Amino acid sequence: MKRLEGKSALITGSARGIGRAFAQAYIHEGARVAIADIDLQRAQATATELGPNAYAVRMDVTDQSSIDQAIAAVVAQAGKLDILINNAALFDLAPIVDITRDSYERLFSINVGGTLFTLQAAAKQMIAQGHGGRIINMASQAGRRGEALVAVYCATKAAVISLTQSAGLDLIRHGINVNAIAPGVVDGEHWDGVDALFARHENRPLGEKKKLVGEQVPYGRMGTADDLTGMAIFLASADSEYVVAQTYNVDGGNWMN
Ligand SMILES: NC(=O)c1ccc[n+]([C@@H]2O[C@H](COP(=O)([O-])OP(=O)(O)OC[C@H]3O[C@@H](n4cnc5c(N)ncnc54)[C@H](O)[C@@H]3O)[C@@H](O)[C@H]2O)c1
Repeated sequence: MKRLEGKSALITGSARGIGRAFAQAYIHEGARVAIADIDLQRAQATATELGPNAYAVRMDVTDQSSIDQAIAAVVAQAGKLDILINNAALFDLAPIVDITRDSYERLFSINVGGTLFTLQAAAKQMIAQGHGGRIINMASQAGRRGEALVAVYCATKAAVISLTQSAGLDLIRHGINVNAIAPGVVDGEHWDGVDALFARHENRPLGEKKKLVGEQVPYGRMGTADDLTGMAIFLASADSEYVVAQTYNVDGGNWMN
């Protein structure tokens, strides 16, 4: 029995990386998935690769009209919205004395504002439908504690954990479960970019930071996007009906709480 049979899902930032893996896993479990991304071309290519139960939607999570249009596109395509994954995010790195307002505003508007206002628009749609729903926010181990050089990104992910708690407590009366996933270090294009930033700021050869963080994971390696799909399916499925306002670490043992 497929666990998400007949469900309609919207996954932000799913043209690549973790979001793409979630989309693939959800389709495998019987869902129809909107590949919603600011990079429409790549979203279209991904949707084509994932087959007839995937479709591309252009979406900029920092723009309210784009959020509203994306929700409307999902309803037009699939007739309803059952599951949202707030996955789109940006990373940046700088010592405290070099953080720019531009970087701060960009990261907060995508990682925090994007999560809050996409969650809000999805919740309105789910409340109107009257059958509850599931919202999954992508947090990070970076939201569990600060890191030198990573102040802004860490603060955005701490905010995502907090928003998950507040929204989870508010929306459960509508039958909407809001929970989050906190990955550790996940290999892919995102971490290639992170590695390049560390190489510049810590004066390391390319690839060294990635190797180090992988060796430090108790499991023994970096995560892959596929390591996260089990939790994403669980949090969207009937099995997690009684799970509310939680953030789950899926990080090979990097963080315990
Ligand atoms: N990769 C990791 O190690 C790691 C660790 C912890 C948490 N996370 C979190 O997991 C999530 C996915 O990470 P990833 O590694 O797949 O990232 P990624 O950078 O590979 O993918 C992010 C996607 O978001 C899209 N995007 C960027 N800005 C957008 C906007 N304004 N509107 C809509 N889409 C936008 C990008 O085009 C891209 O397709 C993020 O929330 C990230 O913070 C990742």
